[in-house]
Amino acid sequence: MSEDVSFKDILMSDHPDELMRKAAPFLNLMMKYECAIMEVETKFNVINNEFSTNHNRNPIESIKTRLKEPLSIIEKMKRKGFPITMESMEENLFDIAGIRVICPFIDDIYILKKMLLSQDDIKLIQEKDYIKNPKENGYRSLHIIIEVPVFLSSGKSNMKAEVQLRTMAMDFWASLEHKLKYKKNIDSANAESIAQRLKACAVLSSDLDIRMQEIRNDIDSKGSGNDEDE
Ligand code: GTP
Ligand code: MG
Repeated sequence: MSEDVSFKDILMSDHPDELMRKAAPFLNLMMKYECAIMEVETKFNVINNEFSTNHNRNPIESIKTRLKEPLSIIEKMKRKGFPITMESMEENLFDIAGIRVICPFIDDIYILKKMLLSQDDIKLIQEKDYIKNPKENGYRSLHIIIEVPVFLSSGKSNMKAEVQLRTMAMDFWASLEHKLKYKKNIDSANAESIAQRLKACAVLSSDLDIRMQEIRNDIDSKGSGNDEDE
């Protein structure tokens, strides 16, 4: 990038035309993140297709993607004390492009991670394994920050993206926990009990994942002779 652009400067414009002109580099950067999402989603779809051809089952149940909203970008940079500029955004925020991959079984998560990272245009930047080390509240998922090249007429840009890999049970828990946390004002007298009960649910969901994986392993090792989808 030739020159760093401050968000304040963009927003100071007092005419819509000026605003649009000043916002153009930001919109261009957001477009590149959107392309990064498309690239990574396609890679997972290709992996899923090949795997289902070879093994008669899909390691991916569904994929959800999201591009971080400009207001959330500004809020996060403020919260973390980073300068509110485009350069800082590219440098410091790793989750502007978000790809969430939901898998049937725990093993699928690690298979997918390995298959994605073995591709020579993908660079691993950071890994947080909240499956092996769940968060204090019970949250489980595998997070990887990767860099993926995006090819445009202006050349190649390596864009960062956050990939969250989870089982359906992990996603079920995280979605409900998110809804409960953000929708309601929980009074402090109740908060401790709610946190404990949510954690107990996280333990149950983890147990469910382990049991389902064991059943899967059992079926695989004994060989059902028929690997058709349900
Ligand atoms: P953020 O500032 O939220 O991005 O946190 P971070 O930079 O420490 O990253 P982390 O890998 O811990 O979490 C990033 C994302 O994971 C969040 O934006 C959520 O999508 C998800 N996540 C992390 N912790 C929780 C949790 O306790 N509950 C739920 N529902 N989601 C979580
Ligand atoms: Mg985040």
